Amino acid sequence: MLAGRKILLAIGGGIAAFKCLDLIRRLREQGAEVTPVLTRSAEEFVTPLSVSALSAQKVYRDLFNLNDEHEMGHIELSRAADLVVVAPATADLMAKMAGGHANDLVSTLLMATDKKVLIAPSMNVRMWEHAATQRNLKTLQDDGIVVVGPNEGDMACGEYGPGRMAEVPEIIDAISATLSDGPLKGHHALVTSGPTHEPIDPVRYIANRSSGGQGTAIADALIAKGAQVTFITGPASAERPKGCQIIEVTTAAEMLAATKAALPADVAIFAAAVADWHIKGDKSSKIKKTKGKTGPDLEFEENPDILKTVASMRNGRPSLVVGFAAETDNVISNGKAKRDRKGCDWIVINDVSPETGIMGGSENDVTLISDDDTEDWPRMSKRAVGERLAARIAEELNSKI
Ligand code: CTP
Repeated sequence: MLAGRKILLAIGGGIAAFKCLDLIRRLREQGAEVTPVLTRSAEEFVTPLSVSALSAQKVYRDLFNLNDEHEMGHIELSRAADLVVVAPATADLMAKMAGGHANDLVSTLLMATDKKVLIAPSMNVRMWEHAATQRNLKTLQDDGIVVVGPNEGDMACGEYGPGRMAEVPEIIDAISATLSDGPLKGHHALVTSGPTHEPIDPVRYIANRSSGGQGTAIADALIAKGAQVTFITGPASAERPKGCQIIEVTTAAEMLAATKAALPADVAIFAAAVADWHIKGDKSSKIKKTKGKTGPDLEFEENPDILKTVASMRNGRPSLVVGFAAETDNVISNGKAKRDRKGCDWIVINDVSPETGIMGGSENDVTLISDDDTEDWPRMSKRAVGERLAARIAEELNSKI
């Protein structure tokens, strides 16, 4: 799939640099040509010799190396590739990129390139969550840089959370999607997915049965068509899509904040089953049973409507906003009314009555309402719904160009 594609791989100085050895092997197995560039600190984690042996290429390390400059100047090096990949993209490298620094070979190449850049961030969870890194991430995304990962999990530093570099197959999927000539190439798609959890106290929460399966299937299909996808998911049981940026959230308020931060997008698909309410007040202490009372006094407050907020934006509204309507009664008329109420362009209606087995199951039975058209799709797998929806989205976005 990557036969003949030229990749300039900038390896940053983080513990995940060791994964780049495997990344180089797998890219070459797919026929890609990998030219590696190491930062000074990357050499603390991987040796130039092993990188050179695996890539079967010269390793570039210095900005001021007369031999290298004579053979291939740094400007030429930055432009000879089809794609520049930065893995691991450390907090420092992201900051340099966002600030436009050019004080070593990697940062200079990144400033000089006229090619698409893809980064795979990797760092400690606190560093990832730090306001400066999140600000830099937003700047880089606004600059059109494609981001894959980071994933959530145990970290080499002993902490747990988002910050682990995406796995090699995920990076390869993202590279393939970025280089693909699919109909959604150059389009940014945002997908919300899964349930949200709204805390009642530190140990209990309000949830729903959404598995996130439909959201993952849509994201996978959009990625396969070449879209750059930002996937914002609540605590879902479904596997995460591969080859995109994944943002894990818990509550509706967090999902709204993540959605706003991920804009602009060309298309936004709201497949999440967002909880309608959260519990008001302090939730820091566990609620105890009280003698003589049947239950706790919980005060509910409505959650922000993420779909409606985005669909009614005056500035920066995605050109196509797609909502979902999970209904159990008067499915079509309720769905149509929901489309009008929310202000979205299309609505995908599904019947989630328990007898359909759709909520949490692997199949879906949907009706797509777009403008004045009603398309009743036969019952099919959630994967097939994702693919058909992605194909319709590609048609629509390309008809607007
Ligand atoms: N949605 C959202 N934010 C919310 C509630 C819903 O973004 N707080 C989105 C969902 O992702 C979906 C659409 O709105 O795309 C409809 O969700 P649904 O749960 O069917 O509708 P509700 O607005 O919750 O209406 P109701 O529960 O009254 O049917």
